[in-house]
Amino acid sequence: MAKRKRNTGGDAGKSTETAEGSAGQQTNLLPQKRHYRQRAHANPFSDHALDYPESPQTIDWSVHYPAFAGTGKVPEFADVGCGFGGLLIALAPIYPDTLMLGMEIRVQVSQYVEDRIAALRTTAVETSTPNQYHNVSIVRANAMKFLTNYFTKHSLSSLFFLFPDPHFKSRKHKARIISPTLLAEYAYVLRPGGIVYTITDVRDLHEWMKSHLEAFPLFEPIDEATLRSEGKGPILDAVYTSTEEGKKVERNKGEKWLACFRRIEVSRED
Ligand SMILES: C[S@@+](CC[C@H](N)C(=O)[O-])C[C@H]1O[C@@H](n2cnc3c(N)ncnc32)[C@H](O)[C@@H]1O
Repeated sequence: MAKRKRNTGGDAGKSTETAEGSAGQQTNLLPQKRHYRQRAHANPFSDHALDYPESPQTIDWSVHYPAFAGTGKVPEFADVGCGFGGLLIALAPIYPDTLMLGMEIRVQVSQYVEDRIAALRTTAVETSTPNQYHNVSIVRANAMKFLTNYFTKHSLSSLFFLFPDPHFKSRKHKARIISPTLLAEYAYVLRPGGIVYTITDVRDLHEWMKSHLEAFPLFEPIDEATLRSEGKGPILDAVYTSTEEGKKVERNKGEKWLACFRRIEVSRED
């Protein structure tokens, strides 16, 4: 059972970064979490004086994905509250032609992910896999406030909420990343057929996310077996095991609850 107080930065300082798929001196290029320590939670309601794009159309995605400049591609996968970036790093080589963006509110943590991606791109250049990790990037952003500043209508095919902050106390529930008011925004940026992936080790939060998504008319539940039969197995495997929080749950032998939903289209006559 998850503890009431969790330290999402708990690995900071004691982890020696492993180089995904690389070895030897290339490992040294990777940032170490202990240099990016930050308190576990950021208040999503306070003004963090962040810079935001006015609209998705004003974003120059080639700054994030130089290897894709001129292709007209925009992010299709968004990892909301990506933490230290484990999901992005796991999925990047599996879907090399899909652009993926992590959103993370904590400055040090988002900086870590930025440095991690830069290091992995450099490492990949020096090895026999030159084009890896050019399809992933990160923005420091409050996704609860500014999601639609980054993504146009129906541009996403996958939206991830992995081990989100549980905000246990009732008076803090409004800070939960899945809430009735935010679901309309998630439905707006997801294309019909797109998938919302949620996973948590907090049963109460799982029930909360599930019930709100079930109640929203533009989402329908989709079970794991169906998703796997549709070829989403690698995504599900990464959802379960690739993130730093997911690994911590595993180490602590905690349970994980998955809930996935498909964005559906509802005609006006329905
Ligand atoms: C418990 S951690 C999980 C991180 C990652 N998904 C994982 O599984 O390891 C939740 C993350 O969401 C981030 N976060 C919380 N609210 C956010 C918001 N409104 N916008 C962006 N990130 C947010 C936190 O800073 C934290 O890094």
